[in-house]
Amino acid sequence: SSTAHKDANGDLVVGGVPVADLVAEHNTPAYVLDEDDFRGRARAFRDAFAGWDVYYAGKAFLCTAVARWIAEEGLSLDVCSAGELTVALRAGFDPARIGYHGNNKSVAELRRAVAEGVGRIVVDSFQEIERLEMITADTGMTARVMVRVTAGVEAHTHEYIATAHEDQKFGLSITSGDAFEAVRRLQACAGIELLGLHSHIGSQIFDASGFEVAARRVLALHARVSDELGVTMPEMDLGGGFGIAYTTQDDPSDPAQLATEMGKIVEHECRALGIDEPRLSIEPGRAIVGPAMCTVYTVGTVKPVTLDAGAVRTYVSVDGGMSDNIRTALYDADYSCTLAARGSDAPPVLARVVGKHCEAGDIVVRDEFLPSDVGPGDLIAVPGTGAYCRSMASNYNHALRPPVIAVRDGVARVVVRRETEDDLLATDVG
Ligand code: LLP
Repeated sequence: SSTAHKDANGDLVVGGVPVADLVAEHNTPAYVLDEDDFRGRARAFRDAFAGWDVYYAGKAFLCTAVARWIAEEGLSLDVCSAGELTVALRAGFDPARIGYHGNNKSVAELRRAVAEGVGRIVVDSFQEIERLEMITADTGMTARVMVRVTAGVEAHTHEYIATAHEDQKFGLSITSGDAFEAVRRLQACAGIELLGLHSHIGSQIFDASGFEVAARRVLALHARVSDELGVTMPEMDLGGGFGIAYTTQDDPSDPAQLATEMGKIVEHECRALGIDEPRLSIEPGRAIVGPAMCTVYTVGTVKPVTLDAGAVRTYVSVDGGMSDNIRTALYDADYSCTLAARGSDAPPVLARVVGKHCEAGDIVVRDEFLPSDVGPGDLIAVPGTGAYCRSMASNYNHALRPPVIAVRDGVARVVVRRETEDDLLATDVG
């Protein structure tokens, strides 16, 4: 559903707006957010998973405009920090449709989540249960909670973003019995309404078998709870993590196919266990926002470097880098890129797009063929940067974080403005 295309002159046009025009007005680097594409992907999940709740994972990218679009498209919202909660509430997002995650929520954060009427707090430890017991006893308010469980599967993805194996910080283990024990304690708490179990196996996952194993183990625990404790939990969440295509080699997740596969697994397991299906939910972030944004940079220095074998790699330096996209350096992620404001008939050269930061790992696109006449002043667009790029952006080297410009039907609107040096100096109080 992307509206991005190249016109006859080789100019990249997104949301009906030529990228060169955006740059003339807003400069680079800049994130360009295709509103129709974002909404289309949100709707595709909502429609494919009809009868389920779809929580958009705000950690992938959240701002006030996006929170409003999510509400308008009928999705719920997953936040994992006080800051994300603040943005959501400021956008007028219904707190009852917000889920709150985190392995280390403070008493103050939990107090606030309960007071705001957050729809579900996903409990991640025994200490958090104690904190919630204290808060609900204190205030007389009710906390609605889910239990984050560790399903014990090895998700096939980068080690830093796999979350269902035993040896990591999230969740309560099904295998060790901790998850059952947490449920037992929670259902006995007067101020706590236990909604169900929650599992998130990891991120950028293509292989559905991980979800299948997780669903089977979580449903088995769900059934055991109703057998042994006589408590039928009404809900269950199977998390997010659906992979997207970063380069043409990847095969993107298809919401309709995912819905069919996951639906079948759940139906089959529930029948085998002889239980009713709980109300199900999922939490996609990347698959909704990832493909909906690209980053536009201006090329500065171009430097051919001769490699050992005599081949040449052309280092193309752009005016951003690991401060606006840490994913290449952190996860060895693959991106592609293209000239954004002209075509070229020049022969392709092996290029590496690098940033302007003070380290050699500051790579945006590791390998790409660019026309040999690429030079200073050219615009370069890197697609697929919607998820975990702006949201993980930093001020490394005192870089100013780029704006997010939403485009739709030929109209551009800044939804997150560019930082200024005044913003940097504001926190530096001498
Ligand atoms: N639900 C929970 C509980 C999560 O922890 C996450 C992601 C999601 C949902 C959404 O996952 P998604 O559908 O976006 O894959 N910074 C890393 C990704 C970290 C993911 C953290 N949790 C990256 O850039 O690849």
